[in-house]
Amino acid sequence: MPLPLATGQDRKHQERLKEAAGGIPGHVAVIMDGNGRWAKRRGLPRIAGHNEGVNSVRDIVEACGQLGVQFLTLYAFSTENWKRPQDEVSLLMRLLLRALRDERDRLHQNEVRLRAIGDITALPQDVRDELSAAIDMMRNNTGLTLVLALSYSGRWDIAGAMRRMAHDIKAGVLTPESVSEQIVGQYLSTRDLPDPDLLIRTSAERRISNFLLWELAYSEMVFADEFWPTFRRKHLYAAIAEYQKRERRFGMVSEQVQQPSPNVHPLQRVLNSVAKL
Ligand code: FPP
Repeated sequence: MPLPLATGQDRKHQERLKEAAGGIPGHVAVIMDGNGRWAKRRGLPRIAGHNEGVNSVRDIVEACGQLGVQFLTLYAFSTENWKRPQDEVSLLMRLLLRALRDERDRLHQNEVRLRAIGDITALPQDVRDELSAAIDMMRNNTGLTLVLALSYSGRWDIAGAMRRMAHDIKAGVLTPESVSEQIVGQYLSTRDLPDPDLLIRTSAERRISNFLLWELAYSEMVFADEFWPTFRRKHLYAAIAEYQKRERRFGMVSEQVQQPSPNVHPLQRVLNSVAKL
């Protein structure tokens, strides 16, 4: 079944973004922050914020699919989150389990492919089972790839990559001289994912918090003021519009990266360059 199409104003908004210079980011990564504060401000328990956060996840996944984003990576549970009070950790795991069960069919119908990165072995067995069943079910889908970072941290992944490289060097499969950036990338859990084009962090905090440390080297970062439970597609559109205004130079100079895009109307190009001033 095809993805439900955006309608009305929403569709117009999406069309404008798709036509704009800068294009739709191929890989969007999100640090979903502020669930606890959202709940606290309403006099609710923290888990109520995580609960409402699932509704934001649903909306952002659907909007990303409609926009043609290819990869969406969500920081759902960090290695450090295990240090939270035990009851919050348990409730988060129950919530994850329920979300996987409740959303699985809808994601599948929407052609979403599911992936997970992180120390999955640390998750409770029922969560692991549900996760691998969902991944299996969606294995051959061709739409958006949704990557859940679970029990994940950038340092955890880099340390694991170094350990695996050391083993391979010891086994004679790899030589120290051949270790390049490309080789390191192949030892990470993100080896088959493109680097994120855009990182969004909600709740007005400006930190990376141990997320995709290697992969974010040249990502554009947008920090949104909304807490995650109130972050919905209109905020995503604003973040993408902000991304489209940025000039990505990858360490080069402006003239090297400016290529006239044949798909952009000359008048639009002038308007875009005025907007950048
Ligand atoms: C950060 O807010 C959020 C998390 C640690 C968990 C995110 C989880 C969800 C949105 C629900 C499950 C996700 C999926 C993919 C179904 P915080 O608790 O750190 O907020 P605070 O900084 O205000 O305390």
